Amino acid sequence: MKYGHFDDKNREYVINHYETPLPWINYLGSDSFFALLSNTAGGYAFYKDAKLRRLTRYRYNNLPLDQDGFHIYIKDKNTIWNPGWQPTRTKLDHYECRHGLGYSVITGSKNKVEARQELYVPKNDNILLMRVTLTNKDQKEKELDLFSFVEFCLWDAQDDTTNFQRNYSTGEVEVEGSAIYHKTEFRERRNHYAVFFANREISSFDTSRDQFMGVYGSPASPNAVLKGKCSDTIAHGWQPIGAHHIHVSLKADESYDVIFALAYVEVPENQKFIAPGIINKKPAHELLKKYDTDRKFDKGLRDLKKFWNDLLSGFEVRTASEEVNRMVNIWNAYQCMVTFNMSRSASYYESGIGRGMGFRDSCQDLLGFVHMIPERARERILDIAATQKPDGGAYHQYQPLTKKGNSDIGGGFNDDPLWLIACTDAYIRETGDWDILKEKVDFDNDPKSAKPLLEHLNRSFNYTLNNLGPHKLPLIGRADWNDCLNLNCFSRYPGESFQITGPSEGPVAESVFIAGMFVKYGKAYANILNHLGKSKEAKKVTKAFTDMEKAILKDGWDGKWFLRAYDAFGKKVGSKYNDEGKIFIEPQGMCIMAGVGVKTGEAQKALDSVAERLETKYGIVLQNPAYSTYKLNLGEISSYPPGYKENAGIFCHNNPWIVFAETIMGHGNRAFSLYKKTCPAFLEEISEIHRTEPYVYCQMVAGKDAPTFGEGKNSWLTGTAAWTFTVLTQGILGIQPDYDGLRIDPCIPDHVKEYKVNRLFRGTMYHITVKNPDGSEKGVKKVLLNGKELKSDIIPVTDKKEVNVEIIM
Ligand code: BGC
Ligand code: NOJ
Repeated sequence: MKYGHFDDKNREYVINHYETPLPWINYLGSDSFFALLSNTAGGYAFYKDAKLRRLTRYRYNNLPLDQDGFHIYIKDKNTIWNPGWQPTRTKLDHYECRHGLGYSVITGSKNKVEARQELYVPKNDNILLMRVTLTNKDQKEKELDLFSFVEFCLWDAQDDTTNFQRNYSTGEVEVEGSAIYHKTEFRERRNHYAVFFANREISSFDTSRDQFMGVYGSPASPNAVLKGKCSDTIAHGWQPIGAHHIHVSLKADESYDVIFALAYVEVPENQKFIAPGIINKKPAHELLKKYDTDRKFDKGLRDLKKFWNDLLSGFEVRTASEEVNRMVNIWNAYQCMVTFNMSRSASYYESGIGRGMGFRDSCQDLLGFVHMIPERARERILDIAATQKPDGGAYHQYQPLTKKGNSDIGGGFNDDPLWLIACTDAYIRETGDWDILKEKVDFDNDPKSAKPLLEHLNRSFNYTLNNLGPHKLPLIGRADWNDCLNLNCFSRYPGESFQITGPSEGPVAESVFIAGMFVKYGKAYANILNHLGKSKEAKKVTKAFTDMEKAILKDGWDGKWFLRAYDAFGKKVGSKYNDEGKIFIEPQGMCIMAGVGVKTGEAQKALDSVAERLETKYGIVLQNPAYSTYKLNLGEISSYPPGYKENAGIFCHNNPWIVFAETIMGHGNRAFSLYKKTCPAFLEEISEIHRTEPYVYCQMVAGKDAPTFGEGKNSWLTGTAAWTFTVLTQGILGIQPDYDGLRIDPCIPDHVKEYKVNRLFRGTMYHITVKNPDGSEKGVKKVLLNGKELKSDIIPVTDKKEVNVEIIM
């Protein structure tokens, strides 16, 4: 069933049933200040880093679910209710939530009162704005009490949930008119505070949670709301909160609105106080003044919408499929931007206190956002490269606040370094900015070691070459892309890391997946070197990946598909000789994307095996048959019950690799039919099964061995966003940025007769029409540039503002 619908014109998803199968989320904020917001106004806010600068609390695995956030309460005689239904869960007469790009609007009605809650984070300011509009739709006058409520987090989200002997004594606030200042730890080493503000005179306030809720109270029925007023409390320790109360009298058809704002403010170290214990509020006053009227609020929202429109207008498609159009033009691109901002840090499933930025994650995310924000992509590449170790290896993660490699986790995930070539190559194809290769970049953040970025690529490539195993295939180290295939770890006791236990970088276990990557990105690296005129180096690189190709076909081929790996004893993994885990998806996708076996027939055989053994109606499972017991020599993958996560779940991230592989083989019908299986817009009708948002990808869908086959988990922060965007736009629609121009090489279903694409590329808008009169799946017969036939299949870069391109297949 559907719980809402797409409103493509307004670029919104509209939810009409508040009881969605899971909270359906939006992300507010695009620079430094962020908030997550669910369709019932749950969520949390933070500045830059969800662990170290958390503004509000969120209890992830709480019951009832999703009750912390940005709720407002309305008391109308004896009824208390929220426009987003939660937390009172008072049945609403009408409800709608519109999630847009960077903003959300929740509207609820009860007993002829309508309440509208509009939230967004404006560009370039550290502030969450929330306008609440109450309208009396009755013939009679109404006396209403309106309450706001946020619960402050004491900044360090981890500490906030563990260190109670300290925390219960540190909380401090100040109140000035309608502004509630949260200043815990400001007295000592912090130079920042939060402020929760209302642009109207208030009737009362609370800053003590015990008083507002009641010590044993519940968000569903706060004491203050039941009473109809707050108690003007000042919190001393315990749980500081911000709650405003406004009494509102409304005549028939009359409306009232108030703007609430939650801001993060930093103060210069030497100007923290204006009097003993009294904080300097000047920067807060200045910030709040920027948004204290409806006119200013509306302008900020208009500017935000313009920002998103401009950002997305650089890539617009018009195909016969409205699902494809809305994914490319709106939601898939939007999700790519969210992964740019968050990597895998803060969602409803990633608690924001666990991981920093993943090396491989961030490199892959870049594939999906590089065309929208090339300058920031450039900066991201240089940041990532600066964490690389001198031997070419990589820290598996780095912290966004410090931009330093995380030594707790360390390195030894042997696919990591090669992803640096992948993202740099994508960046150069998009921008033509070869100069990035000359940028001096540190190794391990040590300025003394700085070398041009090109040298970083060289060491990435050589890292694999220097770590080959007995079959001349790359050593897997702790794990490759599949974090859960831990061939060297032998994790025996609960609580041990699966990835860093035991002799975790053994000399035997090899990965055919990394071998495929080495060929694919080795080719990219050789192209780069050739382009720079370094043909001698390019030759060496070419020899190395050609040897690797041979090694794959010799020892990485299992007869009908590519093998997954050799374990620490030199035994095959992902082979017909195994009882379980006979075939894995990753090497099939990666080796074929690298071109291995395409001419000699192995690629086609592998794809046939994927179709026969791994494909299901909801996508391609990661491997088959699922592991039924825990296996010490395989690690975490076998720790999951069959059908979940890496143990034969449908891991959405690697499905597009097979779609890519199908396009390489020229199979447009297959490619598109596989693309549709995991694409959320096509799953809207089965939201009760899929459960996660129909407008964004999730990490994993339960596979055919799972009792909950088809159920999605862990939405929003996944490399799936970037890879599906890339495969649809480059593999299927065929718009491929190349070093010297734009190549257009579609691979589409044969029934598609025509489609159009507007693509901004290096400052020129390409208006592209693809025509397919003969119903082919692949193959371009003619390229017309402004009406003139081109000899080459690459449309050269031009300084014109726009050009027309016609492609005849
Ligand atoms: C976990 C995996 C998970 C990955 C990303 C790893 O640490 O072991 O299960 O897929 O992180 O969340
Ligand atoms: C999610 C991780 O973020 C990603 O790096 C990894 O490749 C997949 N899980 C598969 O294990």
